[in-house]
Amino acid sequence: MSTPGSEVNTGLAAGADAGAPPIIALRAVTKVYGEGQAAFKALKGIDLDIAAGDFVAVMGPSGSGKSTVMNILGCLDTPTAGAYLFQGAHVEQLTRDQRARLRRRWLGFVFQGFNLLARTSAQENVELPLLYRGLARAERAAAAKRSLALVGLAGWEHHTPAELSGGQQQRVAIARAIVSEPQVLLADEPTGNLDSQRSREIMELLVRLNEERGITVLMVTHEPDMAAYAKRIVRCVDGRIASDQRNTERTPLRTTDDADTAREEA
Ligand SMILES: Nc1ncnc2c1ncn2[C@@H]1O[C@H](COP(=O)(O)OP(=O)(O)OP(=O)(O)O)[C@@H](O)[C@H]1O
Ligand SMILES: [Mg+2]
Repeated sequence: MSTPGSEVNTGLAAGADAGAPPIIALRAVTKVYGEGQAAFKALKGIDLDIAAGDFVAVMGPSGSGKSTVMNILGCLDTPTAGAYLFQGAHVEQLTRDQRARLRRRWLGFVFQGFNLLARTSAQENVELPLLYRGLARAERAAAAKRSLALVGLAGWEHHTPAELSGGQQQRVAIARAIVSEPQVLLADEPTGNLDSQRSREIMELLVRLNEERGITVLMVTHEPDMAAYAKRIVRCVDGRIASDQRNTERTPLRTTDDADTAREEA
């Protein structure tokens, strides 16, 4: 997985930093759902380079293929044609098991609906991805605790999702996604079910994970205010990338004082 292939080029628009091969590259990726008369082309040829350390917001109308792209990147789905390179390795040529391993080792996924186990504590939800890794119980517990602290939930380890707010539940989902120290965090409308104050808190958390931990972040959002936290904004229209730009007016992180005031006002 570690040697970048010669196919990787860094020349695309707002793509990789000069010289560094992208951590993720899509080449002429298509996705067709169904067959024959009912076939539907959800992706019509996607080329995309993501540099390690980038923070990309994916926008575009409903049905434009955003989730399809994210699911392919997250190894939850496979392209019909084209290439997906992760650190230069051809993911579309991997077996199902190899893809699952890549997903568990290198990728974290966060969904709009949090997807937590209901009667299970925050701690146990976060530990789940580590079960596959064969870590000892004490190590799993310590890692989950660290991960929850990182998302601001120290002290909430034993609460179940029903005992947590939407914003807190999404933090647990993010803690679960980062507990295995992925290189890339994929988030599909992570603030879609949250009010604007809670959404901003989640965005600030993602920015911190990107800046302080160096995690590459790709997130889908319909909200321009949330996309404004990203370094780069990619727009999908009708199964294609319609624009791909650096965000020159990036929303700055608030100071702790600002955040406190906003919380009091909310
Ligand atoms: N499993 C599937 N079977 C058939 N068609 C699908 C499937 N998944 C997605 N599609 C179709 O592919 C197209 C793209 O879907 P996708 O979920 O990627 O859109 P999206 O941009 O994420 O939209 P939204 O903003 O509503 O989440 C849609 O027209 C959708 O109906
Ligand atoms: Mg979607």
